[in-house]
Amino acid sequence: MTLLAPLHAVLARTGLDALVLVPGANFRRVFAKDFHQMERPLAVIVPREGEAVAIVPNLEMGSFTPIGFPGRVFDWRDEAGYMAAFMAAGEALPQLHGKLIGVEGQRMRVFDLLALQKALPGAEFVDVHAEISAIRLHKTPAEVELQRKAIRISEAALEATLQDVRVGMTETDVESLLLRNLFSNGADGLSFAPIVAAGDNAAKPHAHARPDYHLKAGDALLIDFGGTYQGYSADITRTFFVKEVSDYDRAFYETVLAANAKGREVSRPGLTASDVDDAVQKVLEQSQFTEFRRHKTGHGLGLDVHEAPQIMRGNAQVLEPGMVFTIEPGLYRAGEAGVRIEDDVVVTENGIECLTSFPRELRIVG
Ligand code: GLY
Ligand code: MN
Ligand code: MN
Repeated sequence: MTLLAPLHAVLARTGLDALVLVPGANFRRVFAKDFHQMERPLAVIVPREGEAVAIVPNLEMGSFTPIGFPGRVFDWRDEAGYMAAFMAAGEALPQLHGKLIGVEGQRMRVFDLLALQKALPGAEFVDVHAEISAIRLHKTPAEVELQRKAIRISEAALEATLQDVRVGMTETDVESLLLRNLFSNGADGLSFAPIVAAGDNAAKPHAHARPDYHLKAGDALLIDFGGTYQGYSADITRTFFVKEVSDYDRAFYETVLAANAKGREVSRPGLTASDVDDAVQKVLEQSQFTEFRRHKTGHGLGLDVHEAPQIMRGNAQVLEPGMVFTIEPGLYRAGEAGVRIEDDVVVTENGIECLTSFPRELRIVG
C-alpha cells in the first residue's frame, strides 16, 4: 500500500480529478509528518491519474525527503519565491487543467489557492475538507493508545498543578504551573493554549488567562487544556471552586455534571451524534439553568482538536467503533461564573470507553 492510498480512496469515492493537501492533521495522517503553516506555502497535489507532485520550501527539504513522497518535488528558495515552483508543478500536471480539484477548505489559505489557480488554468476548486478528513474518523487501536497516553500525561499534570494552586495566585500563575507540569510529565506539545479562567472569566467558554486577576474565595476555576503525544491530543476540562462554594454554584455544577454523565451513559454505536447531544441538552434545558447554555455537547478528537464527528443536534452521523469525541456540556453565567466538565471517549463495539478518568466530583482547591 502506498502512502497515497487513503487519498486515492477519497478520489475514487468523490469522482474528483485531484486532491490538494496542505500541512495539518490530514497531511500528518497521510505522511506521518507535519510542517508549519507559514508565509512559505507547501502543497501536495495528488491526481487521480498520473504522478503526484509536491511544492516544498527548500529549507524544509531536510524534513520532507524522509517522508518518502512518491512523486515529483518542486522545491523553491526564498530569493526565488514560490510562484515559479507552482507554475512548474502545473506544467507537470497538464491532465488537471480545466478539471475538478478538491481542497481542504478549513486549512488552505487564500494565497495557496490563488497560486494553484494560476498554475492549473481553468481548474475548478471545491471544498472537500469533510471528505478528506473522513480518513481520520475511525481511529486505529494504535492511535487510541497514543490518545490514552496524551490523556494520562494531561491528567497527571492537572493533579500536580492543583496541589500548588492557592488563593491569591493569578490565572497566568496557574497556567504557567500547568504548562510546566504538562511538559515535565511527557507532553510533546499542546493541544491548544490552555484555558485557565476564574470568576467572571470562567463564564467565557474560550477565555484567556489574565495576569492581573487573583483567585479569590468562591471563584469557579475552569481549566480546559490538553497535552499532545506524538501529535494526538487530549482535551479535558474540569471546573473547581476556590476555598468555598455557594449552594447556588453547587447546584449549577451538579447540573453540568448530570449532563456530562448522561452523555457518557447514552453514547454507543448505532446512535447518531444528534441523539447524544439531544440527551445531554435536555438535562440542561430541563434544569433551572437552561438560559445559561452556550454550545453543543462536543466534537471529534485526534490529530485535530475539533474534528468530526461534531456532537450536535442535526448531525445524523452514526457513531461507530473507533470514533473518539468529547462530551463537554457547560453552563455560563455572564459576569459571574462558568462550569464545563469535559471527557474524551472512544466508541467500542458495545458502548464507549471513557479515556479520561480525572474525578468529576466537585472539588475545592486553594
Ligand atoms: N469548548 C466548547 C466548544 O468549543 O464547543
Ligand atoms: Mn476543551
Ligand atoms: Mn473540547
